[in-house]
Amino acid sequence: MAVEPASRTAVQGAFSGTALRADFPVFESSTKQGRRLAFLDAAASSPKPRAVIDALADTYAHHYANVHRGIYELSEDATNRFEGARRKVAAFVNAPSEREIVFVRNATEAINLVAYSWGRANLRPGDRVVTTQLEHHANIVPWQQLTREAGATLDYVAITDDGRLDLDDLRAKLADKPRLLAVAHVSNALGTINPVAEITAMAHQAGALVLVDAAQSAPHMPVDVQAIGCDFLALSGHKMLGPSGIGALWGRRELLDAMPPFMTGGSMIIRVTLDGAEWNEVPAKFEAGTPAIAEAVGLGAAIDYLTGLGMHNVREHERYLFEHAWAALGEIPGVRRLGPDDPDTHGGVISFVLDGIHPHDVATIFDHEGVAVRAGHHCAQPVMQRYDVPATTRASFYVYNDLDDVEALAGAIRATQQIFGA
Ligand SMILES: Cc1ncc(COP(=O)(O)O)c(C=O)c1O
Repeated sequence: MAVEPASRTAVQGAFSGTALRADFPVFESSTKQGRRLAFLDAAASSPKPRAVIDALADTYAHHYANVHRGIYELSEDATNRFEGARRKVAAFVNAPSEREIVFVRNATEAINLVAYSWGRANLRPGDRVVTTQLEHHANIVPWQQLTREAGATLDYVAITDDGRLDLDDLRAKLADKPRLLAVAHVSNALGTINPVAEITAMAHQAGALVLVDAAQSAPHMPVDVQAIGCDFLALSGHKMLGPSGIGALWGRRELLDAMPPFMTGGSMIIRVTLDGAEWNEVPAKFEAGTPAIAEAVGLGAAIDYLTGLGMHNVREHERYLFEHAWAALGEIPGVRRLGPDDPDTHGGVISFVLDGIHPHDVATIFDHEGVAVRAGHHCAQPVMQRYDVPATTRASFYVYNDLDDVEALAGAIRATQQIFGA
């Protein structure tokens, strides 16, 4: 079945996903069934381009030593590369200073850092924190723990039937003067792109700080902390073509300066006596122990690769694929698509359910068809509860995808329905 243009507005992006497949070694081999791999699970973790794999290997082979300690050439070289990666992350999110970039393992750790450090220092009994019903568990559970411990209250902004944040409900929650709002830029379970700049302005007006979970936006669209106006932003390297084990927290300098350390030990101190310790400056204050050195350099290489494509182009490419895929799935009877219809507010993630077929069966049959998708609750169980489904099947697009992948997705759905006699 050939995929027809979704609409007259769907415009081919500035680069070809088909051509970019050559940059990703994982696409050199076919699947066990001898099929071309249609990889539609970047939202869980993305494949790595050769440039990132080479940067990792080169760092370990020729430039590796511990950082910020050695006064020998190799250590200084490693430190320069590690700090160079920090500058790349800062430029990527338009941070005013690279000192506001804290390297962490992933977005989960970035959010926990804020919950533990800012939260435990600032939240008092009776205070409120607001998050939303469309968050990943990483942006729910740390706030549940924090508010429980502090004797504070956690409120959730509701979502609409078509998967958008209910801004009237947000307004109502903000009227209770919360101390902090934690919100995803893009939902991993629905693909919704939230208007985070508008939301941040509303929250600030109410006196709340704002943490933006950019785990699903930083890989796929321009993210500018100054344009958003938020106070903290979390991202994961492994979802944006980088290695696993490296991510970043951006925070406003004055907030980071005032926050106590999250973890303590080596590297994060200036002076230690038997009576106590004096903290290092940010970001070192939040980077206790030996960091993920080569992985940070690998993240820098991923940023170079994405910046080379242009983040506006990445977004346009995914929008093009989304429009085609959304239309193709809409034409198949028995497919229920979740999330907003409007490509302006829907990123490259499509969550759907097939009538009468469990998503795990869907994903298993898809696998035989050479189509890799995620099936489950996507670490967003409150979203599943909201739409009264146990799970969904999720296809997520990235730079190396093309219309053949959209076609493979639609074909795999038809094959699954045929097997189940649906
Ligand atoms: C929206 C969102 N936030 C946070 C996370 C957590 O990311 P990580 O597992 O890399 O910490 C994810 C992962 O899927 C996500 O999609």
